[in-house]
Amino acid sequence: MTLIERTIEVRRPLAECFAFAADFAHIASWDPGVARSDRLDDGGPGVGSRYRVHVRFAGRSVPMSYVIEEWQPPRRVVLRGTSESVRALDEIRFEPSATGTRIDYRANIELTGAVGLLSPLLASTLQRVGDDALAGLSAALDGTGCSGRRPALVHRVFDRLLLPGLFGFTRLGYLRAARNFAPLDDDLTGRVVIVTGATSGLGRAAAERLAALGARVVLVGRDSTKCAAVERELRAQVDGARLDMEVADLASMREVRALAGRLLEKFPAIHVLVNNAGVLLDDREVTSEGLERTLATNLLGHYLLTNELLPRLSESAPARIVNVTSGGMYTQGVKVADLQMEREPYDGVVAYARSKRGQVLLTEHWATALVGRGVMVNAMHPGWAETPGVERSLPRFRRAMARLLRTPEQGADTIVWLAAARQAERETGKLWLDRAPHPAHVLPWTRQSEAERRAFVAALDQLLQAR
Ligand SMILES: NC(=O)c1ccc[n+]([C@@H]2O[C@H](COP(=O)([O-])OP(=O)(O)OC[C@H]3O[C@@H](n4cnc5c(N)ncnc54)[C@H](OP(=O)(O)O)[C@@H]3O)[C@@H](O)[C@H]2O)c1
Repeated sequence: MTLIERTIEVRRPLAECFAFAADFAHIASWDPGVARSDRLDDGGPGVGSRYRVHVRFAGRSVPMSYVIEEWQPPRRVVLRGTSESVRALDEIRFEPSATGTRIDYRANIELTGAVGLLSPLLASTLQRVGDDALAGLSAALDGTGCSGRRPALVHRVFDRLLLPGLFGFTRLGYLRAARNFAPLDDDLTGRVVIVTGATSGLGRAAAERLAALGARVVLVGRDSTKCAAVERELRAQVDGARLDMEVADLASMREVRALAGRLLEKFPAIHVLVNNAGVLLDDREVTSEGLERTLATNLLGHYLLTNELLPRLSESAPARIVNVTSGGMYTQGVKVADLQMEREPYDGVVAYARSKRGQVLLTEHWATALVGRGVMVNAMHPGWAETPGVERSLPRFRRAMARLLRTPEQGADTIVWLAAARQAERETGKLWLDRAPHPAHVLPWTRQSEAERRAFVAALDQLLQAR
């Protein structure tokens, strides 16, 4: 459930404001998220009046039914809205003010079905939709024009984020894209490839494929028993597999430093680093080093590991780094002033999305820093794949999407392609899904200036000091 609460002051008298805003027959003229609205009954509006409101959604016009539940002119109206994927309860209060009318708008919005699974990620988007709507109402009542004809932000977001999310990220999206894939048969003999999070899901699938292409694959996991079991299974599955195993908790900077030391000692050349390990947690956890665990695992550990291995990767050029991010990052920027999420209520999905946004920022940072050094750095989004991680962290999502989830191999395909394919050898600094580059941002507020990116990297360095 998302609660949108906004107050505006307009210069119009109370009765006129009520007559205009409480009757949703006018809503398309002020809310840019509405394409059209029709009253379904005759007579003046009142309790029981019904509207068919066509909301702009994913490039289409989706009908919503609204009914007036309470009608107290000129002070208050309550409307209930329903559609296949949205339930809304809108309350509008009108009070006279010194200069005209004060309007308090309160909307409770619940996304249901498959779209509902994305609610936590879309909460901030809905807030901005509320901003657009109230700005439109204010402009319409004050006669300064209205934003109703501008494509709504929600429209743009659903077009570019939700639709690809609901289709392109699924198994069907993969199958559609894979029709154009060239066979991945590059020979990786002699190449050393490090894969973090290789004991499960995408990391395991990528490790298997990379080993099958002839690479010497270093499986990094946090659990030695699990690592040993995966190593055994991969040896059984891949003829002549060349595998090594390293155990380290990536959320522990002490262990990451030790891991890097062992890798540098053991491997005179390192050609590929796949930063894949990741977690999505329900509750805020803090490591013994005082780090919020999602940040530590998904971002800081990989930042440290990559920095420690960079000189060796560079010496071993041509070399590649693949950062496994998530589509969740489309909804978030990084919060440099509060990387550990100490100053706001913890939300695991938001913490995850911010850590994944951080990986994209680091991809851009390293790609710029490494120009001319033969190390290509890219981020990829695997789509939605059925893995133990998804089963553990998003059980409702997994159940609802069961038939649409990718296999781990399909999710891992672009990891392997970026790590191995000749076609990808010159690519750097980009975000990929299904072997195609994608924009790293769809929302303006997730963008960072160059100065903000530098501040973000400096904040990571600061967190690493004394750890
Ligand atoms: N599956 C998807 O649909 C999806 C979508 C978007 C992004 N991703 C990203 O893809 C990556 C892989 O996810 P997955 O779905 O394959 O999840 P998974 O099945 O849970 O695999 C995650 C891997 O990371 C390891 N790991 C977790 N915390 C660690 C730590 N502190 N130190 C070392 N290793 C650690 C896990 O080890 P254990 O085996 O010991 O748990 C496991 O090997 C993650 O970065 C995830 O954010 C996945």
